Amino acid sequence: MLNHDKSRALFERAQRALAGGVSSEFRKGNAPHPLVYMRAHGARLVDADENEYLDFALSQGPIVLGHSHPEVLAAVERASRDGQLYAALHLAEIELAEKLQEIIPCAELVRFSASGSEANHAALRVARAVTGRHKFIRFEGHYHGWFDNVAFGINGASLEALGPREAPIPLPWTQGLPPNARDEFILLPWNDLAPVEQTVAQHHDDIAAIITEPIMCNTGCIEPETGYLEGLRALCDHYGIALIFDEVITGFRVHLGGAQAFYGVTPDLAVFAKAMANGYPISAIVGKRRWMQPIAEGRVIHAGTANAGNPSVAAAKATIEVMQRERVHDKLHRLGKRLQAGLREAARETGHDVLVQGPGPVLNLAFTSLPCARDMRDTLAFDKAKLGRFVYGLQEEGVRILSRGTWYLSAAHTEADVDFAVRAARKVLAAMHE
Ligand SMILES: Cc1ncc(COP(=O)(O)O)c(C=O)c1O
Repeated sequence: MLNHDKSRALFERAQRALAGGVSSEFRKGNAPHPLVYMRAHGARLVDADENEYLDFALSQGPIVLGHSHPEVLAAVERASRDGQLYAALHLAEIELAEKLQEIIPCAELVRFSASGSEANHAALRVARAVTGRHKFIRFEGHYHGWFDNVAFGINGASLEALGPREAPIPLPWTQGLPPNARDEFILLPWNDLAPVEQTVAQHHDDIAAIITEPIMCNTGCIEPETGYLEGLRALCDHYGIALIFDEVITGFRVHLGGAQAFYGVTPDLAVFAKAMANGYPISAIVGKRRWMQPIAEGRVIHAGTANAGNPSVAAAKATIEVMQRERVHDKLHRLGKRLQAGLREAARETGHDVLVQGPGPVLNLAFTSLPCARDMRDTLAFDKAKLGRFVYGLQEEGVRILSRGTWYLSAAHTEADVDFAVRAARKVLAAMHE
C-alpha cells in the first residue's frame, strides 16, 4: 500500500478553505480522499507523498501530448513574454482559427471561448436564433457541461426512476435549477434512431437543435451504431434542425479533425475544448457559415474577457502542430488497441467479466457480463462497487484512471507503459477474488 499521509492532511486543510476541498465536483476522486498532486511530466504524475503514477486519467482528457510538453511550454513562454491577455484581436488567434478551418470539416467560421460548457451554451443559443425555435433534443448519459439547461439526465439512477425508455424522465443533477430549465429540451435514449425520428416528426416546429457527443465518452465510452450519426444528419437536414456535435472529448483525440472526420459525418455546429491545447483553457465553437452568421453579425451575443488569451492560443497552435507533424493519432489508436487487448486478456485470465469499449485513444472498462453496451441504460448493469475496488487497486499499483473506469492515452505513453498498466490490472483483478 502506498503512503498517502501528506495528501490526507492537505485534503483536510483544503476543506477549510476550498468548498468541499476541491475546485470542481469531478475532483472529489476515489475513496477514501482525493490525492494532492505536485508535478507531472510526460505520462507520469507525482503526489504530495512522492508516489509516482502512470497517468491514464490525463486531467480528464486534455493532456493529449503528455504533461509539460516542451514545445507547448516554449510556445506559451514566448507568447506570454509579449502580453498575457489583450482581450482584443491578435495575430495568433487568426492563425489558430485558420488552422481549425483547415482541419475540422464543419469549421467554416470559428469563435473561441474558455470552457466547453460555455461553448455549448453559445452553440445552443445560435441554433435557436437561426431556426426561431426554442427546444433542443439531447440524450441520456451525455454530458454537455454544468449549465442549467443541460444539467439533467446525466447520472445513472435506477431504471424505475428513469421512466420509460422512449420518454425518459429528465432527472436533475443539481439543486438550484430554475423551474423552466427542463422545458428547454427533450431527453431521449441515444443510439436508436426510431425515438428521435418520432419526436422530430411530432415536434419539429419547436426543435432548434439535436446535440450529441458523437461518441458517448462520458458514459461507458460507447461508439455510435453504424448509420446512427448519418441518420441524425439526415433528420436535421430534412427538418432544418441544427446538428451539434459536442466534441469536447472526441476533438483532437480520436482524429485531428474530431469525430466528424473520424466517422465522416459533418455537423452544422461543433464544440471543441480539452485536448485542443494540451491542458491550457480554451474552447471553440465552430460551424458552417449559415449557422455562425448570427454570431458574426452580432445578432447572437457571444463574449468573454478571457477568450483567446495568449498562453492558451499559443498552446493550441503548438499542440496542433505537434499532433499533425508526429501523426500522434496513429499512435494513440495503436496504443489504445494494445491496452484494450491487454485488459481483456487480463480479465479473462483472472476470471472476471469485463466490457472494454471505446475507439482506443479513449476507452472504458466496466465490470459486467454484457457483451456490449449501447446506451446509458445498459451501463446501469455495470458493477460500480467492483469498479471502485479496481480503480483504487490500480492507484495503489501506481496507475491512475478516471473513477468511472475511463482510460485516456497520450503521445507520451509507450508500449512499455501500456504493458506495465496491463500487468498492474492483472494483479489487481487477481487480488479482487481474495
Ligand atoms: C462532452 C463534454 N462536453 C462538455 C464538457 C464541459 O466542458 P468544460 O468542463 O470545459 O466546461 C465536458 C467536460 O468534461 C465534456 O466531457
